[in-house]
Amino acid sequence: MAFEKNILVTGGAGFIGSHVIRLLINKYPTYRIVNLDLLTYAGNLENLSDIDSAENYTFEKGDIVDTDFVNSLFEKYDFDGVIHLAAESHVDRSIEDPMSFIKTNILGTVNLLNAARSNWKDFTGKRFYHVSTDEVYGSLGETGFFTEETPYDPRSPYSSSKASSDHIVRAYYHTYGLPIVISNCSNNYGPNQFPEKLLPLFINNIKHEKSLPVYGDGKYTRDWLWVMDHATAIDVIYHDGKNGETYNIGGNNEWQNIDLIHVLCEIVDDELGREKGSSKKLIHFVKDRPGHDKRYAIDATKIKNELGWEPSIQSEEGLRLTVQWYLKNTAWMENVTSGNYQKYYDKMYADRV
Ligand code: NAD
Ligand code: TYD
Repeated sequence: MAFEKNILVTGGAGFIGSHVIRLLINKYPTYRIVNLDLLTYAGNLENLSDIDSAENYTFEKGDIVDTDFVNSLFEKYDFDGVIHLAAESHVDRSIEDPMSFIKTNILGTVNLLNAARSNWKDFTGKRFYHVSTDEVYGSLGETGFFTEETPYDPRSPYSSSKASSDHIVRAYYHTYGLPIVISNCSNNYGPNQFPEKLLPLFINNIKHEKSLPVYGDGKYTRDWLWVMDHATAIDVIYHDGKNGETYNIGGNNEWQNIDLIHVLCEIVDDELGREKGSSKKLIHFVKDRPGHDKRYAIDATKIKNELGWEPSIQSEEGLRLTVQWYLKNTAWMENVTSGNYQKYYDKMYADRV
């Protein structure tokens, strides 16, 4: 079958990438979607098991840092566009092992940019979309929001690696005219997230009656976005965003960690039929994360006014759907927490608890 467009999605076996792939496969049957993923600990093809036999889906296992491999894919598929999500994504891991973040997030991004630049003879109709995070802006005080004009001030190895890659993507626009677009999004939640991030980790720990390690005083604020809303934003930006532009994406849904955790505990108690208040007893305040950003909050006016995108779900509803998904998908959770998971987790938290 001849496809109208060939699109490379990197990191499609991960949390957000799997939702993006599913949306594109179902919404655009005339596009061929090629998923390039290394299947690191965070990548899981089970996240795509419902669509992996679709005619317009192809999986390619490989490393975005591998120049020859990336170039061979550009030659093989003649991509019209790239939606780049592959990354090392967990702040705590970046504190333990910054180099793997520098390699994948910075060198991998440059490698993809070079492949696009050298393989795309003519940039007309092409697009390189770099998916990034609001953490590049650093930390807010009690008030205010990140806008697209907020100066970058990253604090963790993760956020600084993403900030570096954002700058390089913009440099390729200004220097070589590569048609790029960038988005910076707040914390996502929903199905398929590896249980090292706050919500899936805590749901799984509650289920097994394990301690819930709340960093510091728990009075850190994040703006939570339902992951499928992020996927729809990415679709809209990929198709309607303007070259060279940045779009902030947020849920307009700020929570202090401790308040969110309390609500989560109540929902899990309810879903598991446990006595009200029992999960809260698992909360333990532990040593803080070094360089912990106090507050993130997004001003998403630009994407709303220019592209008409808004989040569809607010967190109480999304939280319950999230809890139900992790409690129901026990085989998924058992698979991703088998192997080295418990050993890694125990080591990571040994000096915190
Ligand atoms: P994730 O860790 O769940 O998935 C990352 C995926 O990238 C995995 O499938 C992994 O196998 C793959 N990958 C890692 N290194 C690779 C390499 N060298 N080559 C090829 N594939 C590789 O991450 P996520 O939470 O889905 O985040 C996706 C993107 O969105 C990242 O760029 C992240 O910075 C950004 N982002 C995430 C959030 C969030 O809340 N999770 C918020 C804003 C932006
Ligand atoms: P996380 O899910 O790691 O996302 P990010 O650091 O990218 O925002 O963490 C969300 C918030 O929850 C953050 O303020 C750190 C906090 N947190 C805990 O208190 N305990 C935990 O075990 C984890 C993983 C996170």
